[in-house]
Amino acid sequence: MKILNLYFSTTGNTDKVAKTISATVQQAGHQVDTVRIIKSEAVDVLPYDLVFVGSGVYEWLPGLAMQKLFAKLRRQYVAAGQIKPASPRLPGKSAVVYCTYGGAHTGINEAIPAVKYMGQLFDHLGFEIVGEWYLLGEYHGKYKEFSVGGRLGNIQGRPNEADLQDLAEKVKGVMNV
Ligand SMILES: Cc1cc2nc3c(=O)[nH]c(=O)nc-3n(C[C@H](O)[C@H](O)[C@H](O)COP(=O)(O)O)c2cc1C
Repeated sequence: MKILNLYFSTTGNTDKVAKTISATVQQAGHQVDTVRIIKSEAVDVLPYDLVFVGSGVYEWLPGLAMQKLFAKLRRQYVAAGQIKPASPRLPGKSAVVYCTYGGAHTGINEAIPAVKYMGQLFDHLGFEIVGEWYLLGEYHGKYKEFSVGGRLGNIQGRPNEADLQDLAEKVKGVMNV
């Protein structure tokens, strides 16, 4: 099984998640290609059987470099005839889409668009979306109150050890699919 671990992280929260994913996949005896997007670098997702894709949430969407990468990939796959009407399933191909988010204003509602956005590229290609995961991620920006007084309460230190252990269990679950 060819596995891709694709992610974008500016303040390190998603990086922790992605590292937990790669370690768990390797412990389960599989190889994984881990790609951290910095400037929408070229990556072809189609050769992979299982893709983990994640980002921090910025203005309700994944990071800009991730959006640019997805726009570029969508154009390439359309031009190559790999995004077809009705998006027929590609047997054996699946994707897990996740984000880390702060949700200071409207909670998970401001993270849902980011996960749905990323999932759509894979759904369009014919991958089955086998997981949509939302992990809390401390807000490391200008407004300190966002990490303690937002709708989701005190999220300092998240994702923490317990979050990452839960994540590892979910990854193992997906590997057994
Ligand atoms: C400039 C900035 C904007 C953010 N905007 C949002 C947002 O719109 N919605 C949200 O839920 N979280 C928002 N967050 C919180 C991040 O999504 C969260 O901390 C995430 O874990 C960051 O991931 P990263 O460290 O991997 O980049 C924002 C954080 C920063 C620094």
